[in-house]
Amino acid sequence: MSSESNRFPAAGDKAAELAAKDKQYVWHPFTQMQAYVRDNPVIVARGEGVMLYDLHGKAYYDAVSSIWLNVHGHNHSELNRALKRQVDKIAHSTLLGSSNVPAIELAERLVGITPAGLNKVFYSEDGSEAVEIALKLAYQYWRNIGRPEKRRFITMENAYHGDTLGAMSVGAIPLFHQIFHHLLFDAIKVPYPHLYRSGYDTSAECAENCLRALDRVLAAQAEEVAALIVEPLVQGAGGILLMPDGFLAAVAERCREHNILLIVDEVATGFGKTGSMFACEQDGVRPDLMALGKGITGGYLPLAATLATDEIYEAFLGAPEEHKAFYHGHSYTGNQLACAVALANLDLFEKNRVVEGVQVKSRHVAEKLSAFAALVHVGDIRQRGLMVGIELVADKDRQTPYPPTALIGAEVTRRGRELGILLRPLGDVMVFMPPFSSSFEELDAMLNLLYQAIRDVTEQGWRSGVVGR
Ligand SMILES: Cc1ncc(COP(=O)(O)O)c(C=O)c1O
Repeated sequence: MSSESNRFPAAGDKAAELAAKDKQYVWHPFTQMQAYVRDNPVIVARGEGVMLYDLHGKAYYDAVSSIWLNVHGHNHSELNRALKRQVDKIAHSTLLGSSNVPAIELAERLVGITPAGLNKVFYSEDGSEAVEIALKLAYQYWRNIGRPEKRRFITMENAYHGDTLGAMSVGAIPLFHQIFHHLLFDAIKVPYPHLYRSGYDTSAECAENCLRALDRVLAAQAEEVAALIVEPLVQGAGGILLMPDGFLAAVAERCREHNILLIVDEVATGFGKTGSMFACEQDGVRPDLMALGKGITGGYLPLAATLATDEIYEAFLGAPEEHKAFYHGHSYTGNQLACAVALANLDLFEKNRVVEGVQVKSRHVAEKLSAFAALVHVGDIRQRGLMVGIELVADKDRQTPYPPTALIGAEVTRRGRELGILLRPLGDVMVFMPPFSSSFEELDAMLNLLYQAIRDVTEQGWRSGVVGR
């Protein structure tokens, strides 16, 4: 018996039992359970660095960093130590009317690393909540300063800001949001400058068209708009759609001119993913509100934060009878364990010069990706930092998508799983977003497996047998 399998005694029986119970009891997010229960999904037992191991001891590369979270690798000794140190003091006490040490220290650190002007930190647990809070702060800000007519929001087509009702209201992905439209408030949607299939030859023309559309909206409706919300540089869940340089700055300038708050949703892009600590830095943008989540704890624990300017914060000050306070909070707001790990995460960012590492590694990945362009069914490759989307198409020349029923992205994912790489596609866009701690060798190994999985499914006819049943 190998030392690896020694770590999973009785894996066979136990694994089968857990697989059955998983299918019996667990309802998985963003998952068609009818297909899930027919499949043979991975049950993760442990992680180490960029690898995940299932109950049988089989190893998989975590090529989407456990849904865009993991930064320094799994089971990291320093993050583990921070967590253990904190749990021996206290796990959680409320932030409603009292405070705690790591929440205070982390707020100071976050203010120090985010764009100038964002001086106040409001904690929550997930990216959707951080967005929800930003929307509510923007809305109430205008009421508190005597402009209640400014209550609408502008968002971009294809935007994704989370799954709670407010966050979905500023979302614009028909597949996710259409079904709930009676429950959602009506946001104003403006086009997003994504070049592929736009009909424009250049990103600049595409961006100009989008700015003209935004200008028209602002000319007609700015007086009733509280804020514009945007995913800076990259729309993540929309399909890793890239924004040309300068577009975000142009949007920010228009918001300022028209007296509209700018909410930058850095839940996906924040903490290094695009090659700077925060994506909006690359366009020199200083938002009024910023939503953070995902990488804030290095992928360890649920924590999110909404940062606001002093101007917004001060609009909420007043005597109790003025009712200007922000009546919002969650049970675990400012959780000590999560904040302690987030502090250790920021220490590792500094110590290991992680953002510089992302820049170097993203150049390496860009070189490797050039081979993917030659694949028959790769229609578009999009990369910003270590956020990569590879769009698979039925006909490359005509840019024709696969029929939705083909579920090609899901099939590539299943083939990848067989080969030892865990993926999570966005439709037929294969996402590659590895932990930043991945070595060059690990990046190469992951990309080789991804290449093989794409080729096997799209060129060699590999099929799992699960799809369509
Ligand atoms: C840009 C953006 N905002 C918000 C969210 C929601 O975050 P969470 O899933 O933590 O609620 C996501 C999640 O992917 C995201 O990509």
